[in-house]
Parts: sequence; C-alpha cells; structure tokens
Amino acid sequence: MPETDANKEEKKYYEDIPMKSECFFLKGSNSLDWGMKNRLSRIFNSDTGRTVMLAIDHGYFQGPTTGLERIDLNIVPLVKYADAIMLTRGILRTTIPPSFTTPIVMRTSGGPSILKELSNEEIAVDIEDAIRMNVSAMAIQVFIGGEFETRSIHNMTKLVDMGMRYGIPVLAVTAVGKDMVRDAKYFRLACRICAELGAHVVKTYYVPEDFETITASCPVPIVMAGGKKLPVLDALTMAYSAVQQGASGVDMGRNIFQSENPIAMIKAVNNVVHKNMKPQEALELYKTLATKVKR
Ligand code: R5P
Repeated sequence: MPETDANKEEKKYYEDIPMKSECFFLKGSNSLDWGMKNRLSRIFNSDTGRTVMLAIDHGYFQGPTTGLERIDLNIVPLVKYADAIMLTRGILRTTIPPSFTTPIVMRTSGGPSILKELSNEEIAVDIEDAIRMNVSAMAIQVFIGGEFETRSIHNMTKLVDMGMRYGIPVLAVTAVGKDMVRDAKYFRLACRICAELGAHVVKTYYVPEDFETITASCPVPIVMAGGKKLPVLDALTMAYSAVQQGASGVDMGRNIFQSENPIAMIKAVNNVVHKNMKPQEALELYKTLATKVKR
C-alpha cells in the first residue's frame, strides 16, 4: 500500500512565488528545444556565454598536419583544458579516451583532399553515428562563393534538419577559397547565410576592420577561427579583439597546438576569452606558464 499523501495544508506550493521563465543565455537560441540548449550549454560556459574550442580536425582534408602527427601524444593531454574539441569521428574513436567528458563537436563533412577542389564536399557522417558518439554538436563547411557553394549549403541544411530531429546543434564553418577576399563584407554575407539557413553556431575568421558588424548582423553565436600560426601576442590579441567585438569565443587549432607550449597557450587563451584578460597580460601569463608547464 502506498503511504497516504500528506494533507494539502502540510504541503509547500509556494503559491505566492511565480515559476521562473528564464531566457537562454546564448544569442538566438531561446526558441530551441531542451536537448539543443543542453548541448550548447556543454560547449558554451553559461557564466561567460563563451567557449574555448580546440580544433584538431585538420586531418580530414590535409592528413597529418604539423602538430597533429600523433594526437595521442600531443593533443590528448591538452583536451582537458578546452571547453570543447572539434574533431573527426575517426580520431574520436581511435584516439580520444571515452572516459573523457569534454564536449565533442564532430566534423561531419568531407570528401576532397587538399589535392582537389575543397568545396566539393558531402555530408560524411550518419546522424546515428553522431548520436552513438554522444556529440554535443556537428560541424560542417560552407563555401560561400566557392565552386560548389550550393552543394555545401544544402549539406548544411540537411544536417540542420537531421540535427533538429535529435536535438544536436550544427556549427557552420565559413570556408574561404584561396583567391577570395577575406573582409567584413564577405564574412557578413557568409555568416548571415549560414544563420538564416539554420546553423545554430557559426565559425568565422577575424578581420581587423569592422568585425563587430559581422557579429552584430549574425543572429546566432559566432566563434572565431584561429587560422595559420601567428606570434603568441598576435594570436592573443586576435582572440581578445574578437570576443570584445561580439564573438562568443574561439575555435582555435594551429595557434594552440603548434605553439611552443600548447598547454600554456590554451590557458592564456582561456583567460582572454573567459576573463577578458588583456593580450599583453595574457602573454606574460603564457610566458610564466611556459616555464612551469611541461610540453
Ligand atoms: C576548417 O577548415 C577546419 O575546421 C579547420 O581544421 C580548423 O578551422 C582550423 O583551425 P585553425 O585555423 O585554428 O588551425
């Protein structure tokens, strides 16, 4: 027999306190379902609204990139310092210990290698496998202005439809052709198209002029792509400028894993992103940590 329920008089209903209905902390994400918001909250810190994502997916089109030759030796020790890692399912299954709980942003597009036309990509992962691997988001390349622009956009919209079915957000990466101009006008166009067509987060490059117009005109969070390896102060300055101008964090690869001291670098970037640490101070932090932290 179940225990007899207490009288109404003895229960606590707090009738005078209305239930809270809070806005979700991430830009443009309030109307998403619970699973989507929960996954986004794994990637983005709800206190700062930002993330430090570590991109190590370069091998999907360019093979063993400098710094990523041995992910087991060089990257696995770094993973715990990142808010999320962006990688392929191959590296995830073979090399990342399943006991790790760092959120996964899985690369889901692929096809051409660096020897061919890069915009000729297709969706390269089944949604079931993404679910099986417990990913927090799926990443896909979008080539605005590229030879296979329409195909890459349709890849993204298909992925968004699949993601919506199962509550998995999609990160659209704005990929720029070698001969194309990287300026605010281009990135405003590319980011806005990705968001309009359903991307939940957009990854794009920093431009020194008018970057804030890119973040302002994109209705979903933008994370800054790192790009080629820069001197430490330049990379920290770029990350600082991007978050000050509206980016919701960074998704950096080479500037972290090709650094002289990747652990010191990711910690410095973390301070810039989450604590608004100024670049010069972050450089000093990097130098101090580099003397203490083993590579
Ligand atoms: C874009 O093509 C891929 O996601 C790259 O692997 C990633 O964006 C590169 O990161 P980074 O430019 O910071 O090395």
